[in-house]
Formats: sequence, C-alpha cells, structure tokens
Amino acid sequence: MVLLLLLGLVLSLANAQFSQDFTVQRNHNMARISGTWNSFFMASDNMTRIRENGDLRLFIRNISILKNGSLQFDFHFMVQGECVAVTMVCEKTETNGEFTVDYEGKNRVRLSETDYRIYVIFYMENIKNGTKTHVLALYGRIPNYEKTCLKRFENICKKYGLDSQNIINLIDQDDCYDVPKRS
Ligand SMILES: *[C@@H]1O[C@H](CO)[C@@H](O)[C@H](O)[C@H]1NC(C)=O
Ligand SMILES: *[C@@H]1O[C@H](CO)[C@@H](O)[C@H](O)[C@H]1NC(C)=O
Ligand SMILES: *[C@@H]1O[C@H](CO)[C@@H](O)[C@H](O)[C@H]1NC(C)=O
Ligand SMILES: *[C@@H]1O[C@H](CO)[C@@H](O)[C@H](O)[C@H]1NC(C)=O
Repeated sequence: MVLLLLLGLVLSLANAQFSQDFTVQRNHNMARISGTWNSFFMASDNMTRIRENGDLRLFIRNISILKNGSLQFDFHFMVQGECVAVTMVCEKTETNGEFTVDYEGKNRVRLSETDYRIYVIFYMENIKNGTKTHVLALYGRIPNYEKTCLKRFENICKKYGLDSQNIINLIDQDDCYDVPKRS
C-alpha cells in the first residue's frame, strides 16, 4: 500500500515536472530561432509525403521572423534531379508559436520545442484534399546532431502516435547543399 502511494507520488511529481517544462516551452521567443538551420530528421503518419519525391520532403536553410510577426522558412528540395528553392511565409495566429500557411494544402505550423542554440522541433498539421497528415521536423544549428535531440524528437513524435518507423533520417540526404559535404 505504502509502496503504491509512493509510486503514485513519484509519478505525479514526474508529471508536474513535465508540465512545468511544457509551460516554459509554450512561451517561445520567436526572434531567437531566426538564422540558419539544417534538416536532421522528419516524421509523418504518411511516409509517402516525406520520402524521396514526397511533396513535404523539404530541407531547411534559414528561418526569419518578419516585421509583421510572420515566420519565413527558406527551403530547398529536389524535383527530378533539380534543386528548387521555396520560401514559405507562415502567418502568425493568436497563439504564441503557432502559424498558418497554404502549401500543398492548408497547414498549421507550431514550434514544438527548442533550446534556440542547438535544435528546434516543429509540428505541422497538413490538410490536403480532406486528408489530415501530421508532420514533425527536427532541425539543428550545426551540421552534426546530438543524440539527446533525437531522443527529444522521438518523445514528441510519440505524443502524435508516431514511432521509429515513421521517422526518417535526412542527414547527408540533402543533395542541393552547395557547400562541400563533410567526409
Ligand atoms: C499519403 O500521401 C499520398 C501522396 O500524397 C496519397 O496519395 C495517399 O492517399 C496518402 N495516404 C493516406 C493514408 O493518407
Ligand atoms: C537568414 O535569415 C536572416 C534573418 O533571420 C537574414 O539576415 C539572412 O540574410 C538569411 N540568410 C540567408 C542565407 O538567407
Ligand atoms: C507579412 O509580411 C510578409 C512579407 O512582407 C507578407 O508576405 C505577409 O503577407 C505579411 N503578413 C500579414 C499578415 O500581413
Ligand atoms: C481528392 O479526393 C477525392 C476523393 O477521395 C478524389 O476523387 C480526388 O481525385 C482527389 N483530388 C486530388 C487532387 O487528389
């Protein structure tokens, strides 16, 4: 009995810790995420859309916050062996860290988690032709990622019902990069 009570206490403490983290993560300083990023991992409940030739397989270059509060993503992607640059301007909503944009359907984009310095995780809900798709992306500041970021990414993916088979590695998959690849 005592053991059960103790276990309950430990669990609720763990929960409290989690929601505290979560609260902090809700209040993002968007200006601090601007600048260059690299695509590390993506996840989706429809792999066709993020695998090769998928319409949502986008490689991030740069993020900027515009004067009116919109969030601009500069991406590259491959179409039939050609590199294409695409700029996506996401309009802000009343919710901090949440944006909307039309791209291959209607999208709600949310900054899920970041430490500003090393990694950022975005969640996107896409509605195309009546079908809803969840997409998550892990971006990093430097070309090498840290294992702890992937762990955090996997945890967030789990919240959306996505497990390891929904996650793809984009490191060194970006053939559009104009700087020499690291060996
Ligand atoms: C997944 O995406 C592809 C390409 O857009 C689409 O044809 C297919 O119907 C989608 N599958 C599901 C289950 O939504
Ligand atoms: C990246 O975005 C910043 C603004 O956040 C801008 O000053 C800079 O020129 C951009 N860099 C590239 C390579 O587009
Ligand atoms: C914010 O500015 C960008 C770039 O000038 C523009 O594309 C976008 O439509 C603007 N958004 C709003 C809500 O005015
Ligand atoms: C949208 O979905 C409907 C019904 O599933 C289908 O008949 C139609 O071809 C789809 N349109 C596009 C552009 O995918």
